Amino acid sequence: MSFLIAMAGKGGTGKTTVAAMLLRYLVEHGKTPVLAVDADANSNFNEVLGLAVEHTVGEAREEVKRGGGMVDITKDQLVEMRINQCLVEADGFDLIVMGQPEGPGCYCAANNLVAHYMDVLSKNYPFIVMDNEAGMEHLSRLTTKNVDRLVLISDPSWRGIQTARRLQDLAQQLKIVTGKTVLIVNRVNNGLSSRAQEEIQAQGLDLVGLIPDDPLVAEFDSMGRPTFRLPPESAALQAAYAIFERLLP
Ligand SMILES: Nc1ncnc2c1ncn2[C@@H]1O[C@H](COP(=O)(O)OP(=O)(O)OP(=O)(O)O)[C@@H](O)[C@H]1O
Ligand SMILES: [Mg+2]
Repeated sequence: MSFLIAMAGKGGTGKTTVAAMLLRYLVEHGKTPVLAVDADANSNFNEVLGLAVEHTVGEAREEVKRGGGMVDITKDQLVEMRINQCLVEADGFDLIVMGQPEGPGCYCAANNLVAHYMDVLSKNYPFIVMDNEAGMEHLSRLTTKNVDRLVLISDPSWRGIQTARRLQDLAQQLKIVTGKTVLIVNRVNNGLSSRAQEEIQAQGLDLVGLIPDDPLVAEFDSMGRPTFRLPPESAALQAAYAIFERLLP
């Protein structure tokens, strides 16, 4: 069974940034191969990783729904082939981009095939890191019920923490987490205010660590350099690694 770590949280809190750091941590610690899944419809995980993407699972699903264009292969084979084409291979990990969610019409058959093949595929990877879009809706769309770590990312704001709590509640209702749901507060300067600490406790969130606001992360972002390549002296990267050490098996 693969160990699945999924990100969630309010918009712009650092889900993709932390997902990239986690992926790098896993690769550097030899927990390979890792599957990186970009489940954000407005995907940009690949940019943070410095990879180009040509095809998405969403496109494969559309094609299967339309019935495909080939006479010589079954739908199963078509799905397998198309999803394999979506895999971007990198050093120690592969990336797959889910792309846009389904449009109108019935996708049941296509979805079943895609979900089945994604299951088969994911068995090749001991660790899966899934970057998600902001908000709640995507959690209900998750077909997997085996999230080992749901990592809620918040900034130190009151609204960020409320969103994290709502996501935790929803994940509980949907029963998608078989392991632990934890909170990381990102972009923290000079520690958390006592108000924020009280709020986190009151909301029953399991705070596993803080990541500082790091000028290097901002610099990389503004220059279009992949966050994945941050130098080891990055304060954010160091803090994130210390958290992952405690968080992962
Ligand atoms: N610790 C940090 N220090 C400095 N800048 C950061 C830090 N974490 C994230 N950022 C910056 O904040 C912005 C948002 O980060 P990111 O894209 O990772 O958030 P997100 O939660 O994935 O956003 P979205 O909800 O749009 O998917 C980016 O410009 C990123 O470089
Ligand atoms: Mg993101």
